[in-house]
Amino acid sequence: MATDLTGNAILVASGPWDPTPWAEAARAIEPGRPVFVWPDLPDPSSVRYVMAWHPPEAALAALPRLDVIFSLGAGVEHILSRRNLPNAPVARIVSEDLTARMTEWVTLQVLMHHRQQRHYDRLQRERRWHELRQPAASEVRVGVMGLGEIGRDAAEVLVRLGFRVAGWSRRPSAVAGVESFYGAAGLDPFLARTDILVVLLPLTPETRGLLAMPLFRKLARDGALGGPVLVNAGRGGLQVEADIARAVEEGILIGASLDVFETEPLDPASPLWGLENVIVTPHCAGWSDPMELTGQIMEQIAAFEAGLPLRHLVDRVTSY
Ligand code: NDP
Ligand code: OXD
Repeated sequence: MATDLTGNAILVASGPWDPTPWAEAARAIEPGRPVFVWPDLPDPSSVRYVMAWHPPEAALAALPRLDVIFSLGAGVEHILSRRNLPNAPVARIVSEDLTARMTEWVTLQVLMHHRQQRHYDRLQRERRWHELRQPAASEVRVGVMGLGEIGRDAAEVLVRLGFRVAGWSRRPSAVAGVESFYGAAGLDPFLARTDILVVLLPLTPETRGLLAMPLFRKLARDGALGGPVLVNAGRGGLQVEADIARAVEEGILIGASLDVFETEPLDPASPLWGLENVIVTPHCAGWSDPMELTGQIMEQIAAFEAGLPLRHLVDRVTSY
């Protein structure tokens, strides 16, 4: 006999993303389970799970039987920063698919700067045939801030390409070929040996606003690229955009690739759009495949209902 799932509903609550493909994915994977899409919520007391991306605060209020909040992404600050967050565990996405996409974007950006592609684009527009001096990857020091699920994977690929790679995290890390720096004491030496700074940190009260002028000034200036480059796919709240623009204008950074912004979408008036050697992408580094990622959430729900522990739970920090 099929299990009656009417009292075990899912609510999809997504501010900026279209919730429809996520709800459709959940329905396709488990047709018997009710799936509501905020704000269309006829029976709040039946909701045990929320699938959330920047959930409106009202969506999380008044769910008396809520068991788990699932982030639709790897990041969770968009949930933890909600006022009056219900006292339910929060689980995040850890997915090979998402990680692989992030590593692609990071590798692409590191190579864009390393191989001076923006310069060649300009030469092409000018119809000029001119070769630039090209340092070897082994002459370039990449520093990855955040050596978690994604940072580790990206670091491994960069090592394979021949870059000199180091990582910075809270605790010591052991990734083959990657020099480990950690904690507050490790930050300055890590920056001092870094030509291309790749940022894959989560946004937390400790990391907010870290990517600002004082940090840019600590990056290596004696490297083969002629100055340091910033590559950020973590979160926009990590960076001070006015400082990035000024650092690029003043040559404190010689380039940047940014996928995330303080406010998204990025304001058309932002100077970052038009700066030479600054690459702007619209928070697409880790494009999230609804079917792939909902599959993981539905597996988590099945395990939870079978009495097994949830995976990828996050610490609930609330002072965002
Ligand atoms: P993880 O939680 O697996 O890794 C986070 C890493 O950051 C860990 O190495 C952790 O250190 C380190 N870290 C956290 N806080 C600090 C701190 N205060 N000081 C130093 N290091 C710190 O996260 P993921 O790798 O899965 O994802 C990282 C982030 O990438 C997400 O939170 C999200 O913001 C962003 N992201 C962006 C996407 C995009 O499309 N642009 C897509 C997916 C994710 P330790 O190892 O010591 O704990
Ligand atoms: C994520 C994202 O956190 O897509 O997964 O930004």
